[in-house]
Amino acid sequence: MNYRRFIERQVADIKKQVGAGIAINALSGGVDSSVVTVLAHRALGRRLKTVFVDSALMREGEPRRVVRLFRRMGIPVELIDARRQFLRALRGLTDPEDKRNAITQTFYKDVFAGAVRRTRAKFLLHGTILTDIEETVAGIKRQHNILAQIGIDPQKAYGYQLLEPLATLRKDGVRRVAKLLHLPAEITGRIPFPGPALAARIVGEVTEARLATVRAATAIVEQELAGTGAFQYLAVLLNDYATGIRHGRREFGQIIVVRCIDSRDARTATVRALPWTQLRRITRRITALPNVNRCLYDLTPKPPATVEYV
Ligand code: XMP
Repeated sequence: MNYRRFIERQVADIKKQVGAGIAINALSGGVDSSVVTVLAHRALGRRLKTVFVDSALMREGEPRRVVRLFRRMGIPVELIDARRQFLRALRGLTDPEDKRNAITQTFYKDVFAGAVRRTRAKFLLHGTILTDIEETVAGIKRQHNILAQIGIDPQKAYGYQLLEPLATLRKDGVRRVAKLLHLPAEITGRIPFPGPALAARIVGEVTEARLATVRAATAIVEQELAGTGAFQYLAVLLNDYATGIRHGRREFGQIIVVRCIDSRDARTATVRALPWTQLRRITRRITALPNVNRCLYDLTPKPPATVEYV
């Protein structure tokens, strides 16, 4: 495929479809939504309304970093602070599917639908890629129909239109387009990060305090393993406690699991044999976090394990 032609065609297409109207999209900072944002901004300029939803589940400094990065590229992004809504929706939930559902509902029905109404956008741009469509059809992924997710029945609410400019590309194609659009390496080369964000890495209830713990552990793992070239590395907070000793006193502390995997497409994965010194340094830093006194390295490939814990 000629990716330069692809870009020209998509920009022209978005222009033609939206006409003099307004379009909206949600940016996550991942490569798909970033590419959609740049393509649509080229086509529409200020008639594109891009929002970034702070769900309280993001990594350290992520919301501001992403918004700043796009502003530097001349693309305005509205930061919506929805932290309270997400934390309220997740309160008391421990079942993985219930947690994932609560996040999807809060994102689309409560937060994004409100932004759509506010901006009077009639066009929604979404970074759906070919693999998403295939996995939805095969029943591997949950419903990918964004209009249904925000409670819009296209027949009743005539006029809403969904645009999916990346629907013919796979991940490697999206990365090629991202490079041609001059997106920085911190976006094009970013390791995969799940939609439910840090909630996918907390076993049990998602609370502000538990998010703070897994966020700090994630920052340590990402710093320490950035140079490995591994496909993905992450930290998980378990719902169990273990006895430990801190400052000469017994402590019933939390347990963090570290995972570092090699993979081509995340469908299968092998575990990276990290050097002992690196594991020791990570353990030292993670067990220095408040109320964390164990750090485990997960040796399980996929299958039988999945990458995430929730
Ligand atoms: P699993 O845990 O299913 O993950 O082995 C496979 C890959 O997909 C990522 N992942 C997600 N990505 N939304 C996403 O966009 C999700 O809900 C989601 N769940 C898992 C995971 O990080 C890994 O790269």
